[in-house]
Amino acid sequence: GSLQMYVDPLPQMPKIRGYGFQQGRVVPVNLTIGMFQKKWKFHRDLPETPVFVYGQCADSATFPGPTIVARHDVPLAVTWENHLPDRHILPWDPTVPTAIPNHGGVPTVVHLHGSAHPPQSDGSAFAWFTAGFRETGPAWTQATYSYPNVQPPGNLWYHDHALGLTRANLLAGLLGTYVIEKPEVYAPMDLPCNGDDLHLVIADRSFNADGSLYMNSTGAAPLVHPQWQPEYFGEVVTVNGKAWPFLAVHRRRYRLRILNASNARYFNVSLSDGTPFHVVGSDASYLTAPVTVPSLLISPAEIFDVVVDSFASPTAEVEMLNSAPHPFPTGAAPGPLNGKVMKFVVTPNGPRDPPDSSTVRPRGAVRGRGVAGAGVGDETHRDVRVPDAVGVSTHLYINGLRLEDPVTETPRSGTTELWHVINLTGDNHPLHIHLGMFQAVKMQQLLDLQAFAGCMAQVNDAVRCGVDRHAVGPVVTVPEHEKTWKNVVKMPPGFVATVVVAFKLVDTDQPYPFDATAEPGYVYHCHILDHEDNAMIRPLKLLP
Ligand code: C2O
Ligand code: CU
Repeated sequence: GSLQMYVDPLPQMPKIRGYGFQQGRVVPVNLTIGMFQKKWKFHRDLPETPVFVYGQCADSATFPGPTIVARHDVPLAVTWENHLPDRHILPWDPTVPTAIPNHGGVPTVVHLHGSAHPPQSDGSAFAWFTAGFRETGPAWTQATYSYPNVQPPGNLWYHDHALGLTRANLLAGLLGTYVIEKPEVYAPMDLPCNGDDLHLVIADRSFNADGSLYMNSTGAAPLVHPQWQPEYFGEVVTVNGKAWPFLAVHRRRYRLRILNASNARYFNVSLSDGTPFHVVGSDASYLTAPVTVPSLLISPAEIFDVVVDSFASPTAEVEMLNSAPHPFPTGAAPGPLNGKVMKFVVTPNGPRDPPDSSTVRPRGAVRGRGVAGAGVGDETHRDVRVPDAVGVSTHLYINGLRLEDPVTETPRSGTTELWHVINLTGDNHPLHIHLGMFQAVKMQQLLDLQAFAGCMAQVNDAVRCGVDRHAVGPVVTVPEHEKTWKNVVKMPPGFVATVVVAFKLVDTDQPYPFDATAEPGYVYHCHILDHEDNAMIRPLKLLP
């Protein structure tokens, strides 16, 4: 039977401060965060679910993990410890390129998504480690990662990145949010704070009757993979680790930091009473001014930071709905289950909950000069081809190349580039680039796609296949609320998306204050985790 909606209250994850105070001054700290197997209650009527989760100890570990609150310009060191058992709770597929330890254990490695940090702290897929560092991957160098937090303030998240196991390790619960604060920046924006500043981490999951997480273990015929499926779609929508939760709210403003932490499902969320979202930021940056939208299309790994203005309608119950098809954009419309996300129950304001009359105010400066200057002709241009769909190959390679093949993307540290991402598939793919922040500047449809795709499959050279002759279709404008420095940009099917990528600090235009050119380098990939694992991912190596 299906679970009753809106019976569990929405929890918030515990917060860990990523800085300390000494004689009134803010000082750096070192944190130790572990990965633990424990049981998690996703719903009142569902038996406890075995999960892998982050926490400072097993007892305090949560699904998702604790929210780490770091301070701009205050470096944070984190020692990530693996305390996981010998066996994974989810099926393992050795036919995708994957970490296979010789002595058992669950390979893990942590990536702070959206952060500018040295390559040794990036969480390379080859830098995996098992419990107690008993076994480590070929790129493993250190147990303690350093996050300089030198970039502009915004919303990030941390999650597992082990080779070929990312989809299973995140599905099991290895994910959490991370905030870089800079009080001087957002104080003037007058955003709701403290108890009115909420994280919503949305993730779809399917469960077996015994409460355990369901993941297909038979693979998709006629493929050769025993377990891998092109996209994981769960029936149940969880928010902060609860299935379809509810939240009691007053008629006042709330800040919602919404992360879609699903493996593959896009969400197009709206509020049932028509209350709009005032978007103030996306991913790890703030917009120059708030943008008001009736709904928000959120790809896997994408983050929107929004203010909702007090649910002003007379309705006492407001549902957050989802209308995104899966796969996006041409798949099935959501059904009665995954078309719902959560419910807000509006309660009357008491004396301690006065209405609030403040407004979200604009600020400036995050766009930086990179965008204004893009397209003047001195950037390096690169073509990136998203592959043909499954059936042509059993692996989803970018530009026909594997992760292990020699690096082809080698930007100079401190520069800006224009990438032309050619999507020949029928799916939208959320592109994620490590280290660099980026934004779409143009999305143009390819005409005569079949001929172009056919040529690309043969020749694998966009210029020789006449990309300029084909990329002459309608131009889709980039939504105003996505015109900021992002960490994930949605690549529409049958389009060439031109993105400007900054390999420097986007607010100051300064080079990184660390060596970004060291081994093992970085990666870029599709953030549909099933695509990333098999193996829509390529290396990225910075040159001095
Ligand atoms: Cu959010 Cu390479 O990952
Ligand atoms: Cu993809």
